[in-house]
Amino acid sequence: MPNPDPIGVFDSGIGGLTVVAELQHLLPAENIFYIGDTARVPYGGKTRRTVERYSVEIGGLLLAEQAKLIVVACNTASALAVPRMRKIFKVPVLGVVAPGAEAAVMATKNRRIGVIGTRATVASGAYEHAIRLLAPAAHVVSSACPLLVPLIEEGLFDDPVTDEMLARYLAPILSENVDTLVLGCTHYPLLHRAITRATGPGIALVDSAKNCAAAVKSLLSEQNLAAPQDRLGHLNIALTDPAEGFLRVAQNALGIEIGEIMTLAVQSTDRV
Ligand code: DGL
Repeated sequence: MPNPDPIGVFDSGIGGLTVVAELQHLLPAENIFYIGDTARVPYGGKTRRTVERYSVEIGGLLLAEQAKLIVVACNTASALAVPRMRKIFKVPVLGVVAPGAEAAVMATKNRRIGVIGTRATVASGAYEHAIRLLAPAAHVVSSACPLLVPLIEEGLFDDPVTDEMLARYLAPILSENVDTLVLGCTHYPLLHRAITRATGPGIALVDSAKNCAAAVKSLLSEQNLAAPQDRLGHLNIALTDPAEGFLRVAQNALGIEIGEIMTLAVQSTDRV
């Protein structure tokens, strides 16, 4: 029996729409319910405990929307909170780290892989761990790029300031002779052109959004969760704060149709 319920997608903000774009492309019949935790973004500089708490709360909101599985589109939440979410929720929980690591291992020829992401993602070592599970001899070098998210949210995709920051952030990675670079943050696919300018054409850029969508497709078919194929799915978007500046930037860059946006309340942002 086909399952008409939506795929729940969650991100700390709007950046996870890069994953939504790939899901829509690969799985056009699926309904998607997306929650961006814009009230508490960014997650990238927060502790594991806080990111787990936020992620579990958003997961609960997705289940209230009948989500048949939860896709954690946020790399930071994938790196820090997926194990906890899997313990708590009965539906499958899929993050972007494992699919990104798998794609990197497939792409590399010299087994030297770079990873860029938020401070919390890089500090967690989640990508190194996932890559080494698949390729124990791989040499992995990571760089935290905390200023890239704000630059992208300002729409500075092709700008000398962004190019300068990329040159600084990528220098320690490029000096290690990597042939593959994992874009370990929801926002970075929007900088594809600028990152290629910085790395030169010889380095494969691995974007976890594409591979995550492929992993969702396999999971839906393995677990008999796919939607009826004779329909066109729709996208619902809910934000925890109606901050829409970057939403328009992302919408233009990704070519996503965005209708009405709901606002959902979350608990206070105070630490517990
Ligand atoms: N969504 C986050 C990620 O992919 C980036 C923005 C944030 O720091 O919350 O890591």
